[in-house]
Amino acid sequence: MKLFDVYSRFDIELVKAGGVYVYGSDGTQYLDLYGGHGVISIGHTHPHYVQKLTEQLQKLAFYSNSVQLPIQEAFAMQLGKISGYPDYNLFLCNSGAEANENALKLASFQTGKKKVVAFKKSFHGRTSAAVSVTDAPKLSAPLNKDGFEVEFLELNDKKAMQNALSGKDVCAVIVEGIQGVGGLDMPSESFLKTLSELTKQHDVLLILDEIQSGYGRSGKFFAHQYAGIRPDLITVAKGMGNGFPVAGVLISPEINNEYGMLGTTFGGNPLACAAGLAVLDVMEQEDIIENVNKVSAYLKSALLNIAPIKKIKGKGLMLGIELGFPVQELRKKLLLEHHILTGSSTNPNLMRILPPLNISEEQITIFHEALMRVLSEK
Ligand SMILES: Cc1ncc(COP(=O)(O)O)c(C=O)c1O
Repeated sequence: MKLFDVYSRFDIELVKAGGVYVYGSDGTQYLDLYGGHGVISIGHTHPHYVQKLTEQLQKLAFYSNSVQLPIQEAFAMQLGKISGYPDYNLFLCNSGAEANENALKLASFQTGKKKVVAFKKSFHGRTSAAVSVTDAPKLSAPLNKDGFEVEFLELNDKKAMQNALSGKDVCAVIVEGIQGVGGLDMPSESFLKTLSELTKQHDVLLILDEIQSGYGRSGKFFAHQYAGIRPDLITVAKGMGNGFPVAGVLISPEINNEYGMLGTTFGGNPLACAAGLAVLDVMEQEDIIENVNKVSAYLKSALLNIAPIKKIKGKGLMLGIELGFPVQELRKKLLLEHHILTGSSTNPNLMRILPPLNISEEQITIFHEALMRVLSEK
């Protein structure tokens, strides 16, 4: 059997990893400034993470949600404490799309309505409801279309938001903490505050997609915490398991639950919870968020006043470097000549930087120097 070929891949074969580095089958060491789509939070194969997963594997790898699994409660408790949401409830699942799918369903169950407001250049995943609120019609198959009405607004347009919510049919507004695939545009703090007020006024639930921007990546646990708001639903994935597939929805205590309304076989399995707990341990023990802010400030100041750089977008270690020309060749040179992995976005002129959150200033300097070199050769 062959793989169903849907991915455009770089021609390198990875066989192992450690910290901020990944290694090719020919022994080449690559500096990982992409973390496989922003997934690696505490560094590849972190010893504490490996130990906790190994211990759990030897005890109980899997049982479904048909029994009590105390490790789920321990995980929820710890996530609530560290994220600043101790009073919220946690629904565990397996991927970002699944988290958004369930958050959208919950909003519809809770309000009895079905229209959703989303934003231009959004990406929320590829399952049925998630792809419908993603601003990329090419990703929707015919059966995804016409399921429910979605209105896409310009980010930060308060007037348009007011108009969209004035009808009686909207169940949810979904917005990324910082847009990822779409190119690092952000809802402003004042827009998020208005959004929070308007959704409350109109019996609409606010879903913050923190799948990429959460878990410390923005320099706070969640990017929306810069605005001081408390969304009704927060979706998380990527950094949550540092590579182990684990995702979740943080749910306001005001939202009703009922047996059977959501469910998944693998969601919240003991191995996933062990991975999630290990990530939170390391975030606390190693002051990961402080490191994000330190390295981010260092990199941003190093990139200041470099002529071909038009803009540095994003926050923390979720950064977009926008140039005045397409970055594809540059990224290829960084990879093949300097052995540095970076990311792309739907903006061809923007390079995405999503390193492991425990990267050091010395390690990010390697990127800065390589970028200077390739820009000078252009
Ligand atoms: C903001 C955001 N939401 C949702 C998703 C979908 O996550 P997954 O690929 O795990 O389904 C992604 C993935 O890139 C994302 O960046």
